[in-house]
Order: sequence, then structure tokens, then C-alpha cells
Amino acid sequence: MNKILSKRQLAENVIEYVIDSEKVSKNAKPGQFIILRTNEDSERIPFTIADYDREKGAVTILVQTVGFSTMELAEKKEGEYINDFVGPLGNATDIEDAENVVLIGGGIGSAVIYPQAKHLHNLGKKVDVILGARDYSLIMYEEEFRKVCDNLYIITDNGSSGEKGFVTDKLKKLIESGKNYDLAFAVGPMIMMKMVCLLTKEYNLKTIVSMNSIMVDGTGMCGGCRLTVGGKTKYACVDGPEFDGHEVDFDESLNRLKIYNDFEKEHKCRLVGDKK
Ligand code: FES
Repeated sequence: MNKILSKRQLAENVIEYVIDSEKVSKNAKPGQFIILRTNEDSERIPFTIADYDREKGAVTILVQTVGFSTMELAEKKEGEYINDFVGPLGNATDIEDAENVVLIGGGIGSAVIYPQAKHLHNLGKKVDVILGARDYSLIMYEEEFRKVCDNLYIITDNGSSGEKGFVTDKLKKLIESGKNYDLAFAVGPMIMMKMVCLLTKEYNLKTIVSMNSIMVDGTGMCGGCRLTVGGKTKYACVDGPEFDGHEVDFDESLNRLKIYNDFEKEHKCRLVGDKK
């Protein structure tokens, strides 16, 4: 049993939970995930680790409340317990060789890029962050990012704050203004990651993406997170969740997500966790 140390609403349908877990916090690295079960009879759901505090033994996750399991979790109050919280799982991000990194987060993708930004910043690397969302109310961790990056750019589709447009518009401008990035790291809706990768390919800028959004149970058993990378079959929860974005077959993954989402709507149950 793991205690919910704190719980706060970050945006519409997005809740931040800080969970008591000395074991996970001690071993966590950026890019890894946990699997939790709210109650004994609940299904297992994977969530990316958004932050960890080794001293306090605390681990932060951001959850988009979109289906039965995440609603079940949302019913828990601060101070209550969840049945289990296992991890860290998955491969940690291997981006420490980069010196000048641009991190791009779309919506809840900020949960994935935040620990990377913090880690790279602590290593003394140059870190630029682009956060994008439909509306400013959906931008998360703005203050936290300001503390761990050299430049923070807010982009909203409707211009409610920062620049109006898409993250790819800003990324293109930055690259063309002479920013000499040696790595891009993009996490967000699948279509956003695809567009970022199409752009960075033109500039030959190595790009890592997180395919956490296609994970179902995170155990390597269900096959739900299958994808094609460089012409080979991979599983996000076992081989990833991060991959070279220029090698990922996004169209195939987008089609698979569509099938799951249609099924989910039809059966009113959750299949794709904390995702769109
Ligand atoms: Fe089930 Fe990866 S999430 S096999």
C-alpha cells in the first residue's frame, strides 16, 4: 500500500499525485515509468514518472482522468492509500551526451520532459523548452520549468498566452535563428511528435520521442504497445518507451490508437491510460 502524499488539479482533467514510495524514488531515472493499481481488483495502469524526491521518498505522476481506471484513482483523496505502485520500469533516457538540447512538450507530455529538463540542467547542459497546448489553461509546470531551463517558450493554438501557433512553428524559428541544438526530445500527442520529427529530419537534428501513450498495462504481455521502429517490431514498455523519432512509423501507431480509441468509446472503458 502506498500513501497519496498530495493531490492537486493542474489542468482540466489532469491531476498531479505525489505518492509515497521510497523504493521507486531511490531508483528512478528520467524516462522511466511505474505501474499502479488503485484497489486490489483494479487493472494495472502505467504512468511516466514526472518527478522524484529521494530524500522524501516521494514520486510524482500526472494523470489525465479519461476513463474508468483513472476515474477510480481520482476518487482517492490525499492521505488515502493505493493498492500498489511498482517501478521504476522501462529504460531510462540516454541523452547525457548532448550539450544543447531542445525539449518539446505537448499537453500532458510535460510530465515526461520535466524530469529530463531537470536532469540535463543539473548536469550543466543548455536546455530550451517549448511547451504547447490548445489553451493556456492546459500548460503545465510553467514555474517548475522556468527553474530548470535556459529559455522557456509557451505556444498556444489560440494565442491565450505566449505565441499563437504550434510547437513546430516555434521550433523551426529557433533552428533557423541559429540555435545550434544537438538533440531534440519531443513528447505529446502522437500527431505532434510526428510533425516535430518530420521537421527535425529536414535539419538532420536527432530527435527522441516517448511512446508511453500507447502503453496499455506496461507488462510486456498484452502486445498493445507494439510499434515499428526502423522496420523492426518493438514494444514500448519493454524496448522503450523512448525511441529515435526518425525511425518510428507514426502512421501505423496513429492507426492503432484510433482503433483503441474507437473501441474505448464503444465500450466506455479505458484502454490507453493517461492519454488522449
Ligand atoms: Fe502491454 Fe507493452 S503495454 S505489451
